[in-house]
Order: sequence, then structure tokens, then C-alpha cells
Amino acid sequence: MRLAVIPGDGIGPEVIEEALKVLEEVAPGAETTTYDLGAARWHSTGELLPESVLTELQQHDAILLGAVGDPSVPSGILERGLLLRLRFELDHHVNLRPARLYPGVRGPLSGNAEIDMVVVREGTEGPYVGTGGLLRKDTPHEIATEVSVNTAFGVERVVRDAFARAERRPRKHLTLVHKTNVLTYSGRLWSRLVEEVSLEHPDVSVSYLHIDAATIHMVTDPGRFDVIVTDNLFGDILTDLAAAVTGGIGLAASGNLDGSRNNPSMFEPVHGSAPDIAGQGIADPTAAVLSVALLLDHLGNVEEARRIEAAVAFDLATRDHAATGHTRSIGDRLAALVSSHAGVS
Ligand code: NAD
Ligand code: IPM
Ligand code: MN
Repeated sequence: MRLAVIPGDGIGPEVIEEALKVLEEVAPGAETTTYDLGAARWHSTGELLPESVLTELQQHDAILLGAVGDPSVPSGILERGLLLRLRFELDHHVNLRPARLYPGVRGPLSGNAEIDMVVVREGTEGPYVGTGGLLRKDTPHEIATEVSVNTAFGVERVVRDAFARAERRPRKHLTLVHKTNVLTYSGRLWSRLVEEVSLEHPDVSVSYLHIDAATIHMVTDPGRFDVIVTDNLFGDILTDLAAAVTGGIGLAASGNLDGSRNNPSMFEPVHGSAPDIAGQGIADPTAAVLSVALLLDHLGNVEEARRIEAAVAFDLATRDHAATGHTRSIGDRLAALVSSHAGVS
């Protein structure tokens, strides 16, 4: 197993250090190569993602990323030039974001029901494509456009992925989240393709919610969701909310998958570089550790992935959630749990 590791900025390197500790316990044979992409490299060389590095990354089985973004770099430079460029170049069209309320974890809501959903967020299209621009720049009449691009090819493949996942889950339910009442062109395309693909999955029940209403249900009744399929921007917003209702952003893992498997997929916490807590050693590394589990699962190391998830479940069930966690102590504990099999069912 050859893995490329991009720790990145802020808390990225802090949580990745712990994730690698856990990886080392479950897959000691994994070969890792670290890449220093991020704010520091940009400051010293002006580079974001050199072609030679992209070529090297492509020769790995998967990529593990911490987070990118730093207050010393203008907003968007690293996010677009590094993170989104990786997702686009490596055709990461399925942005997989599971959100599950683990036993022992309390969400911010009272009377937490069972929550176990997976958001299939489109990863290479929508308003993220970077089409648009400024007219009459720096005048009182400046016009900024940001075009959302939705192709039948791009929407169909992510919709197919979501149906296939729903089919494999016990509840077999899929919710399309969009804003078809306003975004009528892309809304029509998404609705049509969901309807068409649903004919091939008669066992999967389908419902629809507008994004605004979906945020209500995500807070008042998150247990209703099973698989959600949605566009790039709605999926970004909804998955921070899904993380918040399942114990916090420090627990939320994700995979950026190239469904055709022509390129390495990339696994990362849903959270960012958290400049407000960077350097203090208090970031929760669980999201990064669970991202390693998603990575191993994706590469077929299913038993190792389950061991990590079981260790996380055991840790969360017994953790003192009122105390401020320490990155290293959580990582040490998870590494010890996976190595000793303690708590592994
Ligand atoms: P953020 O996710 O970095 O932080 C949001 C809040 O969550 C902060 O209060 C932070 O302290 C907290 N938080 C995040 N991760 C945590 C963890 N592991 N443990 C405990 N608390 C945690 O989002 P932001 O503040 O909007 O963005 C900061 C920077 O990160 C920006 O530059 C942004 O563009 C970038 N970003 C990058 C990614 C990525 O690399 N995938 C994702 C989101 C944001
Ligand atoms: C995420 C982040 C990214 C996104 C940004 C940093 C480009 O918020 O991974 O959720 O919007 O996809
Ligand atoms: Mn986000």
C-alpha cells in the first residue's frame, strides 16, 4: 500500500500525526510519502501544486490529507489552487461524507435518536468549477458572476453511486436535496436523472427536499436521513451541519472518490485548518483517524478499517466528553485500542 500524505496547514499536521500512528498499528506495511504542500510552501516558493508533484501523487494508491487554508494566505488561493485542483485533476466526483451518532456521544440536540446517514456530495461540478468573473471591477457597478455547471454525465454518475449505496444499506432510502424551486435548470436535470436511475432500483425509496427545508430536518429529525445525494455546494454546507448534530466537526470523516478508480482517491477530515485552535494541541484527531478507516475500506482492507471504527466507537463510548480533549492523548488511546483489540467487537 503506497500512500501519499499531505498534512497541510493549521491543525492538519496535528491530526495527521495521530492518524498515521493509528495507521501504523493496523497496517504496519503501508508505505507513506509526505508532501509539504500548503501555506508554508506557497510563501517560500509560490508553488501550490507543481505538475511534478501531481504526477507523483497519481502513482500512489490513495492520498491522506489534513487540511489546507491559512489566514496568512488570501482566501481561495490554497483552497482552489491546491485542494480543489486535486479533487478536479483526480476526478474525485463522489465526495462521500458519512455522519453517524456514535453511542456515548451526545449531539447538541435533546433526545437524540439514532442518526446514521451518508451524504453523497457531487465533487467536481456545481458552483465550484470556477466559471464566472468580474465586470466593471472596482466600480460601484461591479458585477460578480459565479456559474454553477451541472452536466448530465457528472450528475448521473454521482446519482448512480448514491443509489448503489442506498441499495446496500438496510433502510434503502435516498433523499435528493436541491433547490428546484429556484435553480430550475440544474434542478430539472438532477430531478430527471434521479427519477431515471430510480427505475433501476425499485427497492430504494426516494424523497426530495429543498436545501433550506433539509437544514430544518437535519436539526429537528436527522434520524430520517439515510443516503442524501446533492450538489457540491449544498453538500458542503449540509455536511458541516450533519457533523454538528452527530457530535461535532472533530469526528467527521470524508472520502473524495474517483468512482472509476483511474486515480487515487483522497481521504480527509471534513473540517478545515481551524486557525483558531491551531498549535494548541487540542484539535480532535478522530475525523482524521476515521478518514484512514474510509481509506483502508476503499482499498479493500476492510478488516483493518473495521478495527479502527471499533476502536473509535469504544473510545467515544468511554470518553469524558465534558473535558477538553488533547490531540495526542486521543491519538495514543486510539492507537493502543487498535493494537490491543480492546473494545473491538
Ligand atoms: P474549520 O473547519 O477549520 O473550523 C470551524 C470550527 O470548527 C472552528 O471553530 C474550529 O476550531 C473547529 N474545528 C475544526 N476542526 C476541529 C477539530 N478537529 N477539533 C476540534 N475543533 C475543530 O472551518 P473554517 O474556520 O471555516 O476554515 C478555516 C480554514 O480552513 C479556511 O482557510 C478554510 O478555507 C479551510 N478549510 C479547509 C478544508 C479542507 O482542507 N478540507 C475544509 C474546510 C475549511
Ligand atoms: C470542505 C471545504 C472545502 C469545500 C473548501 C476548503 C474548498 O469546505 O472540504 O468541506 O468547500 O469543499
Ligand atoms: Mn466544507
